[in-house]
Amino acid sequence: MTDRDLINKAEEARKNGYAPYSRFPVGAALECYDGSVITGCNVENASLGCTICAERSAVCAAVSQGKQSFRRIAISSSGNEYCMPCGACRQVLSEFSTELEILCAREDGRYVSYRLSELLPHSFGRSNLGG
Ligand code: THU
Repeated sequence: MTDRDLINKAEEARKNGYAPYSRFPVGAALECYDGSVITGCNVENASLGCTICAERSAVCAAVSQGKQSFRRIAISSSGNEYCMPCGACRQVLSEFSTELEILCAREDGRYVSYRLSELLPHSFGRSNLGG
């Protein structure tokens, strides 16, 4: 699967984004090492702090389907800015792979890519718990 294929899936997922408050729908497509792709979208809530980002939505869907091994994630938003994963999503993604590749795509399809370890260096993880 090319980067473009994965971004297309994130763009498709963005159509389901539930964003009546921010008007900023986001889609994510998480590629697993078994080749499957699990998508997610943001799900906002009137109690704004209960909002779930697209990335965490995708991770929860994947884990619920028995998948925990992730290679790449594409994130798609509207507008001219690259949608970077928020701090909470970086932390949740790091639970499963600090070397995850992250593709951040803007509306015109241009994208930038990072390793999660670049975006969340010196992260807190299971080793801190002595595991
Ligand atoms: N959002 C995401 O879904 N992912 C990100 O990486 C950044 C922000 C959502 C949360 C909220 O629904 C909207 O974007 C505005 O913050």
